[in-house]
Amino acid sequence: MPGRIKIEIPKIHVEDCQIGPAAEKPGRIAKRRAACERFSMVALAAVLSLQTSTAAAQLSTQDHLAEPGFWPTQDQPSRASFAGPESCVRCHASRASQTETPMAQNMIPAASAEILHTHPALASSANKFDYRIETGVNAAIYSVAGGGQRSSYALMWAFGTGRVAQSYLFKKEDGGFYEARASFFTNLKTLDFTPGRALTSPTGIAEAMYRPVGQAEVQRCFACHATAANIDGQFDEKHLIPGVTCEACHGPGASHASAMDQRAGNESATAKPGIFNPGDLLPADAVDFCGACHSSFWDVKLSGGKGDSTTRSAPYRLVTSKCWGTGDARLTCTACHDPHKQLDNEASAYDAICRSCHVNKRGEKTTASHPGVACPKAVKNCTDCHMEKVYVPEMHANFTDHRIRIVHPGEAFPE
Ligand code: HEC
Ligand code: HEC
Ligand code: HEC
Ligand code: HEC
Ligand code: HEC
Ligand code: HEC
Ligand code: HEC
Repeated sequence: MPGRIKIEIPKIHVEDCQIGPAAEKPGRIAKRRAACERFSMVALAAVLSLQTSTAAAQLSTQDHLAEPGFWPTQDQPSRASFAGPESCVRCHASRASQTETPMAQNMIPAASAEILHTHPALASSANKFDYRIETGVNAAIYSVAGGGQRSSYALMWAFGTGRVAQSYLFKKEDGGFYEARASFFTNLKTLDFTPGRALTSPTGIAEAMYRPVGQAEVQRCFACHATAANIDGQFDEKHLIPGVTCEACHGPGASHASAMDQRAGNESATAKPGIFNPGDLLPADAVDFCGACHSSFWDVKLSGGKGDSTTRSAPYRLVTSKCWGTGDARLTCTACHDPHKQLDNEASAYDAICRSCHVNKRGEKTTASHPGVACPKAVKNCTDCHMEKVYVPEMHANFTDHRIRIVHPGEAFPE
């Protein structure tokens, strides 16, 4: 064994499982308690093996899914329980902008992918193989040639709006799914190896061209990139709703929609809304909620994630910020991002969030409501300097490091 490992066993007291200061709704308390009880086991095991004691109130996605109630990426018993986003926006017009966001639009049939139509003849080569994607009116054809062989297939699904990249799945004669070894990268404006799938010496054209994606993995891809993809344990490719739409985050809503329809004509009705409202979650859970797809702290830790690439997980990095402490509603994902709207690219848009905790004048005393000291350098555009852009090589792009901190030029990536 390399060196001696000092193991710190965390003290898990009843207080660790106590509910935050705000008056909670009964449902929330029950959920939080259940989470805490199970957390002890998970955290203990994880701390023993990984020697970390940060993010004490967080859970892995698997643990959240094991609890009663809705959680994103969950398998649902019936397709008929979904109403579809058109139904939701009929009554919730103020949230209709969600349908235009990258989350909602991140997955489409490859034949209609705009990126492919704007680049109808993509080509690149690696390891003596030539890769092409040729897109016409009705199809996008992926072909690979090398070593005297050539193979081609029609691409089926395009993943990603191309904020940084777009990857493709196709089917072979055997009916199984395959991931194209080549993806489109926005910064390169051409094809390169699909993130995490680079090869240096493929054994032949098959390996050079694709990676077989088993059923369980297919279900996971679609659970994060689509809505209503997994029904009763089965992948329902025919009826899935491409993209992260309302019910991916609010749970199946057909019964809510029909209950609300009936309520409209009945003033005295007092039925519960019957739909999941993530606004009710406690801060630690609220961050894990987005982490169901963006990877929660424990999802990354337990899978051994390390280094620059972990900046792809905002939930993982955020909860290790000193600012986060043990969780604070002023710093959940939705404090900075309205998931129903476009991402704001102006640093100034985030200043009010920082100021909700940091005093703004040098020397000004901190208070219970403003526990953060003032910045000695600036009074605005906080995120420009304290949320570093980190280059993630396999994505050929920068991600925003959600570990809020003093960035020291030239320092090693802070794990
Ligand atoms: C017929 C109109 C109608 C339709 C269709 C509808 N809603 Fe609602 N929804 C309402 C009304 C009215 C409320 C407010 C209920 C209340 O506060 O008592 C509501 C409340 C909600 C809430 C808040 C629940 C809470 O606990 O505070 C969410 C979230 C929501 N709807 C999401 C959706 C989604 C997602 C869909 C589509 C699957 C949808 N709604 C379809 C009328 C509708
Ligand atoms: C645990 C949920 C999850 C799974 C499983 C998953 N993804 Fe993603 N994927 C995300 C999230 C969240 C993002 C956005 C953040 C990022 O780029 O890392 C993303 C980003 C991407 C992007 C870049 C999108 C862009 O616009 O730049 C591609 C391409 C992609 N995923 C393809 C896939 C494919 C193909 C699979 C299955 C083989 C897959 N993903 C599985 C959650 C997931
Ligand atoms: C069901 C899976 C899922 C859930 C839950 C989810 N996301 Fe995402 N999110 C994605 C995927 C996939 C993308 C990549 C979209 C793309 O291709 O650009 C993404 C992208 C984003 C982006 C980048 C948008 C842009 O302009 O590039 C933001 C910001 C974001 N998500 C915030 C959130 C927040 C906040 C929450 C929690 C309230 C959340 N997400 C929950 C799947 C999810
Ligand atoms: C990526 C996850 C995500 C998606 C997709 C999403 N929402 Fe939400 N929604 C949230 C979160 C988180 C909240 C609570 C925080 C907030 O109010 O922004 C919320 C809140 C709401 C509320 C307000 C509940 C209240 O407290 O009054 C309504 C209504 C709603 N969403 C409707 C929709 C509709 C309709 C769609 C689809 C067009 C949609 N949402 C898509 C995450 C999502
Ligand atoms: C204190 C404010 C703040 C909080 C809290 C926050 N973000 Fe961000 N986020 C930002 C800023 C700033 C950017 C960069 C926006 C830009 O310039 O494009 C960003 C960008 C992103 C992106 C786009 C990809 C990237 O890395 O640039 C995603 C996805 C994202 N955030 C998800 C989340 C999720 C999920 C959470 C909760 C765990 C979260 N954010 C919490 C401020 C915040
Ligand atoms: C929920 C309250 C809260 C919010 C919101 C918040 N902070 Fe903080 N932040 C703190 C507290 C408390 C500390 C001091 C932690 C300590 O040193 O013990 C801190 C520490 C810091 C530090 C010093 C960290 C270090 O590495 O020593 C920086 C820099 C910082 N915050 C910047 C920001 C910026 C920028 C924002 C907005 C993007 C922000 N904070 C939002 C509470 C907050
Ligand atoms: C131009 C870059 C820049 C901007 C913009 C900026 N900061 Fe800073 N900040 C710094 C640097 C550099 C330090 C470290 C100073 C030092 O160690 O002498 C720092 C230090 C801090 C600290 C730690 C102070 C201490 O005494 O421990 C906090 C907290 C902080 N900044 C918060 C903020 C907030 C909040 C904003 C927005 C209102 C902000 N910063 C805007 C560069 C910046």
